[in-house]
Amino acid sequence: MRRPVILVIDDESLIGEAIAAALEDGYQVVAFEAAEPALAALGRMAPDLVLLDIGLPGMGGLEALARIRRHDANLPVVMITADRDISTVVAAVKQGAWDYITKPLKMDALTRAIDNALATVRLRRDVQALQARYLEEHIPCFIGESDTIQAVMAFVGRVAQSPDTPVLILGETGTGKELIAGAIHYQSPNFKGPFTAVNCAAIPTELIESELFGYEKGAFSGAAQTKPGLIEAAAGGTLFLDEIGDLNAAAQAKLLRFLETGEFYRVGGTQRHTIRTRVVSATNQDLDALMADGRFRRDLYFRLGVIRVTVPALNARSGDILPLARHFIEVFNQKFGKWVRDLGPGAVQALEGHAWTGNVRELRNVIERAVLLAEGEHIEVDMLGLTPPTALETGFAPLPDEGMDLAAALAAMERFYIHEALRRTDGNESRAARLLGLNHHTFRYQRKKLAV
Ligand SMILES: Nc1ncnc2c1ncn2[C@@H]1O[C@H](COP(=O)(O)OP(=O)(O)OP(=O)(O)O)[C@@H](O)[C@H]1O
Ligand SMILES: [Mg+2]
Repeated sequence: MRRPVILVIDDESLIGEAIAAALEDGYQVVAFEAAEPALAALGRMAPDLVLLDIGLPGMGGLEALARIRRHDANLPVVMITADRDISTVVAAVKQGAWDYITKPLKMDALTRAIDNALATVRLRRDVQALQARYLEEHIPCFIGESDTIQAVMAFVGRVAQSPDTPVLILGETGTGKELIAGAIHYQSPNFKGPFTAVNCAAIPTELIESELFGYEKGAFSGAAQTKPGLIEAAAGGTLFLDEIGDLNAAAQAKLLRFLETGEFYRVGGTQRHTIRTRVVSATNQDLDALMADGRFRRDLYFRLGVIRVTVPALNARSGDILPLARHFIEVFNQKFGKWVRDLGPGAVQALEGHAWTGNVRELRNVIERAVLLAEGEHIEVDMLGLTPPTALETGFAPLPDEGMDLAAALAAMERFYIHEALRRTDGNESRAARLLGLNHHTFRYQRKKLAV
């Protein structure tokens, strides 16, 4: 194994030599007498730890510390201080110094400080690697290349760090709210704890309270045994309450109390239970409308939504459509043992032009079907089975029951836009033609034909 590299920066060369001699068995020590050359060597040497004298001539220790932190915020820096001036040491620690040791150096204190720092850094790195693996295993693939979704995911990553803050995820059906709830859990410090998902809409309303909070033996007929609820199952992890808008009044009141105090009683119980879990909730319903109707408590809404994350509809991030489609092709190739390689040009156009009211879930279903139907290497437009957009989605008038004269409608439309283009360009035919994507010749022909 590579010996850890330790960079010593101290203007007293004897110190550097003494440290090198004391540590030579387990470490590789490189000493500098000033900050500037040491900083220049940082990238090349990739040290595991820096021992830095506070009272350096030239660039002082605090300035050097700031630069080292800018270079690599995870690199531990242990300060060496001669004077007993605690205020400089405090300043250094505030700036991110790991620890400090005082001169005259005691070698056992020095090795203890170094070993502690290196062990902690190693531990942190292990935890980060483990967390990345959990995230990968449990949230197999979150696809999102658009700036919009990238910003949402960056926000989610930051929110995840505070393990107790409730998060409310809003967004249309199929936008990926459940995936995001998982991403919050697996990026949080509670990632090794349970992720307990509860679909409030799937539990009969008269059972929801006892499912969530548990019940005591004899609480109601049929309660033969005491049973802990889902909230208890989520202790030390994340409780994901999906379709939160479907929670009845009694469960809403009890949940509010739990969010405020961390305490609850099982149904039929008298013993107070306290647990810690982060509550993440989600809904595709319009909570404002539910609150206006008195069907959802406003105080609960504010408690659940300390942090609110709104997942944008797929049409608002059209840059994600093709990457998601290609991802789902891979998923269903695997599942069905197919060899579809890509989308045909017509299919690309159809996917990009479709109004995805069912969002990512609809896209996933469309691709699943297409991969199943595909016989060659490409998905063609007819395998997508996309129905053309409705009149409402296009902005066109609906087809009247008695039928219509399509040729006349098209001519009227052409006449309108030719007229508009000429008006915009003060009658300049070649510029008007360009505005309509026509060559000059065609433009003049159409204009004459339609007598504009
Ligand atoms: N960014 C994404 N990358 C990969 N798969 C996604 C992404 N977003 C959504 N999906 C997939 O789309 C489907 C729907 O996502 P999800 O269940 O999270 O939606 P939802 O917002 O919870 O919808 P609903 O409100 O209807 O419950 C799932 O199969 C999910 O894996
Ligand atoms: Mg969902």
